[in-house]
Amino acid sequence: MATMLLLNGPNLGILGQREPEIYGTATLHDIEKSVADEVSGLGWDVRSVQSDSEGDLIRALQDNYETVGAVVNPGALMIAGWSLRDALANYPRPWIEVHLSNVWARESFRHESVIAPLAAGVIVGLGPLGYRLGARALVSCVTGIDAA
Ligand code: DQA
Repeated sequence: MATMLLLNGPNLGILGQREPEIYGTATLHDIEKSVADEVSGLGWDVRSVQSDSEGDLIRALQDNYETVGAVVNPGALMIAGWSLRDALANYPRPWIEVHLSNVWARESFRHESVIAPLAAGVIVGLGPLGYRLGARALVSCVTGIDAA
């Protein structure tokens, strides 16, 4: 069975309780389930890793080169996560960057992502739906099937 990677960075393990006016009330578990639902029709499963530590996320990438691709919300590591950026550069499969909030409508320090230039695509500001759309986009990148 093909497996996709779902990576979530710092402070995303407490979704549902974290600044709900910005990030909404869905939990990470809810999001993991919706991504799993999105790809299950293709027979894919989802390996989900959340960590508050950049090293753990790098390890998860290095340990999962056999996955078909990834959806990645780096959290604040988007701003200066250079080691995560280098790990993503060596990840051999396509991946999509997702942010729940519209980072460009927020503080200026969130306006640049060091990982975005390497992503197959970037989705911001659509809340949990962004993950689902990210998974659909990944399916399209990997299989060539237009998920629209
Ligand atoms: C975030 C946006 C980041 O700027 C922030 O540091 C997060 C969450 C989002 O999903 O909107 O942790 O990645």
